[in-house]
Amino acid sequence: MDHSTLSFLFHLLTLAAYVSALPATFLQDFRVTWADTHIKQLQGGAAIQLTLDQSSGCGFASKRQYLFGRVSMKIKLIPGDSAGTVAAFYMNSNTSGIRDELDFEFLGNRSGHPYTVQTNVYTHGKGDREQRVNLWFDPASDFHTYSILWNHYHVLFFVDEVPIRVFKSNQARGIAFPKSQPMGVYSTLWEADDWATRGGLEKIDWRKAPFHAFYKDFDIEGCPNPGPASCASNPNNWWEGPAFRQLSAIQARKYRWVRVNYMVYDYCTDKSRNPVTPPECLAGI
Ligand SMILES: *[C@@H]1O[C@H](CO)[C@@H](O)[C@H](O)[C@H]1NC(C)=O
Ligand SMILES: *[C@@H]1O[C@H](CO)[C@@H](O)[C@H](O)[C@H]1NC(C)=O
Repeated sequence: MDHSTLSFLFHLLTLAAYVSALPATFLQDFRVTWADTHIKQLQGGAAIQLTLDQSSGCGFASKRQYLFGRVSMKIKLIPGDSAGTVAAFYMNSNTSGIRDELDFEFLGNRSGHPYTVQTNVYTHGKGDREQRVNLWFDPASDFHTYSILWNHYHVLFFVDEVPIRVFKSNQARGIAFPKSQPMGVYSTLWEADDWATRGGLEKIDWRKAPFHAFYKDFDIEGCPNPGPASCASNPNNWWEGPAFRQLSAIQARKYRWVRVNYMVYDYCTDKSRNPVTPPECLAGI
């Protein structure tokens, strides 16, 4: 084989090494993990409806795990009075003592009050890194895109095209970064009125049940596990490219706009919990 054939084949292999389905049906990438009766497929499996009622919440998980990549889905949250409910979308290594986990948690609210998105990052078992942002739109009136980009440089949480959280790789400062354990993709809808809304003051109103959230446009592009071992370290994966190594000037401006106007809690500045500012909080973006 000549060089160009070889490099063409190599290119094909690289492409095949990561999953790229745009967008997949629910059952292509996911399975129900909790309460089959409460997850209904819509539009031939292109979308799903999750239900929470007094008998149960529900949940689903990806069939495979991934090491680096980008995960995104469109979600339409519970309309009206959603106080006391939590919908989560997260990645988790499922390794109890040394788990890596990247969380989006959508905390419901009374009608007319803002939905809050809580994010958290666990690296090698260390969590307690909550940040909260109130959404600047009504997430129940339409679908919005929520995504996590995870590469060797940082983990970014996006709401539509706006970065709401940056967790940089700062191993030189002694901060663990998720880089060796693949993670699955999970979602659950459940009742958490002991803490979710105004710190637990607002209780769930079961007269408003059943509560429904909708998901569609499931998109996972990453190195699957099990899969080719060389994928995760391949610098040619698009999510490792120069444009994805730091925020662009426009992204940085959006990120600051969210932090200035919509951030309602940051563990970095919570002196009662963290008298000494955690080192990752000093790392900038
Ligand atoms: C997590 O790991 C446990 C123990 O290895 C396994 O039984 C369980 O199915 C895993 N959970 C998921 C959602 O993959
Ligand atoms: C709910 O609404 C209250 C009052 O508007 C607001 O302070 C709070 O941040 C909102 N979110 C949660 C999760 O309580």
